[in-house]
Amino acid sequence: MKIGIIGTGAVGKTIASKLLELNHGVMMGTRNVSDKITSTAKDIYGNPPFNEWLKTNNKIKLGSFAEAAAFGDLIINATNGRNSVTALINAGAKNLAGKILVDIANPLDFSSGMPPTLLAGLNNTNSLGEEIQKTFPDTMVVKTLNTMWCGLMINPNLVEKGDHINFISGNNPEAKTKVKKLLNQFGWLDENIFDIGDITGARATESLLPIWLKVMGVTKNGAFNFKLVR
Ligand SMILES: NC(=O)c1ccc[n+]([C@@H]2O[C@H](COP(=O)([O-])OP(=O)(O)OC[C@H]3O[C@@H](n4cnc5c(N)ncnc54)[C@H](OP(=O)(O)O)[C@@H]3O)[C@@H](O)[C@H]2O)c1
Repeated sequence: MKIGIIGTGAVGKTIASKLLELNHGVMMGTRNVSDKITSTAKDIYGNPPFNEWLKTNNKIKLGSFAEAAAFGDLIINATNGRNSVTALINAGAKNLAGKILVDIANPLDFSSGMPPTLLAGLNNTNSLGEEIQKTFPDTMVVKTLNTMWCGLMINPNLVEKGDHINFISGNNPEAKTKVKKLLNQFGWLDENIFDIGDITGARATESLLPIWLKVMGVTKNGAFNFKLVR
């Protein structure tokens, strides 16, 4: 499948590498392609600059947000949550129309330092996932994978033999079925992909971030997840 990833951060890179390994065609989208390619800045975690990463993943194409969205039969939103709607507007409603958009972003507000809070207007009675769905009514938004560190998204077996939870929500059942198949390719077992219904489920999963961030603050290691026991 051809997949467009809107975003070049840790999530975008992690998912892109995995999709390449799975033989999907991948184009990543960024605000300014030449800036991204020429930048020698390390990322916020101290990893090598994006262009060095791209050299070792040279089958991955890099384009504008709009080019990546036009390229993909399925789109992944891996942008900073504060700017996701703007980034997707730049990707272009027409390039997203009729397609599944997997939304991994979280509406985090870092303006008062760490830990971040949930952005005003995008919590409790609303969410980023819903806001994206409202902005792009012709796109099938599926919220998933946003409740864990990106290393686990594509390698759930890293902890507890993969036996932990990944929520999924969205208004279109067929879209969720297709995304579940992609999650299976990442290593997620059907019994650990928990469907919580329509896109209002994004309110719940985005609201897991405060506790996720607290646990991360104590453990200093993102390789953990939640598990449902019944
Ligand atoms: N890191 C994780 O393990 C993790 C886990 C779960 C969920 N998430 C969520 O996944 C999303 C991506 O996280 P991340 O850590 O990979 O990277 P990030 O730093 O949160 O986002 C990087 C992306 O956001 C874009 N961006 C930043 N400011 C922008 C603006 N003003 N306008 C348009 N686009 C802008 C960047 O564009 P350029 O390409 O132009 O630089 C880049 O592609 C976030 O919403 C995060 O909360 C992250």
